[in-house]
Amino acid sequence: MLLKELDTPISIINVIDLGIDLEKMKDKLRAGYKEYEPDVYLTQRNKIEILQSHLSQEEIDRVGYDVWMKIYKGEIPDKDFPIIFPHIASDVLKTISSLQPTRMRLISECELTWKENSWEIQRIPCAPFQQTEALIATNDLDYRLIPRKFKELPEYLFDEDLKKILIQVGNKVKEFNNSAKKLSISIHHTLILCIPDQISSNSPEGIHQDGVDYIVSALVIERNNVYGGKSIIYGADAKTPLLNITLQSGQGIFQPDKGTELWHEVTSISLINTDEPGYRSTIGFDILVLD
Ligand SMILES: [Fe+2]
Repeated sequence: MLLKELDTPISIINVIDLGIDLEKMKDKLRAGYKEYEPDVYLTQRNKIEILQSHLSQEEIDRVGYDVWMKIYKGEIPDKDFPIIFPHIASDVLKTISSLQPTRMRLISECELTWKENSWEIQRIPCAPFQQTEALIATNDLDYRLIPRKFKELPEYLFDEDLKKILIQVGNKVKEFNNSAKKLSISIHHTLILCIPDQISSNSPEGIHQDGVDYIVSALVIERNNVYGGKSIIYGADAKTPLLNITLQSGQGIFQPDKGTELWHEVTSISLINTDEPGYRSTIGFDILVLD
């Protein structure tokens, strides 16, 4: 049956339509990558995954939730692993300790207020980032429920280009919810690095919802020497793809999230030329309607 209308519409944003010079924007952010800091939570999560893949369910349960959480928060150093996990082979522990960060990031937060037919932007200090209403399709433990702290975006990168995108995001919200007058937006500048023999993904939680009213799941700044990184949106069963797209520089997906039947993920990336470094750089937006 041909679908005539989608209850929860999805739209593609392109920064070129906003009068942004994409090449200049790319150059500026590229020069700003030195500011990005490793997402240590993701590295710890990867360590946990490797450890658990070498343990029985019984052993995982015996270690207990509190210990896994302490590992996730970096409160238990790698040197304690041989004591906690005496049966895990030393080469596995060596692999774990040599894991490198695959996600670099910066965070910022702002409020948009609707005044005299336009959005006014006010940057505010970031609260610890916590996705309390996030969901994952598999019902596994979702580490995003735990508050995380990341380095804040330097002021010079909260620039006119970003403000144009924020206004566009606000206008998109208005298309769906004309009475919206105040928005809270978390902005995630993210750089996914391709490291040989490691998985590089910006949605390690798999198919999920972010638990906010609207998202720009990713606006791609650039893809450098990578394939993959496909954005896939699924319907209510979290299995049937509605959209499957490899976003190119300047493109992003705007969609409603919390309480809808839409689920999403982005696939991992791999190097095209394995002798060269590769990465995918994006900006994500989580939008809450406050008023
Ligand atoms: Fe997401």
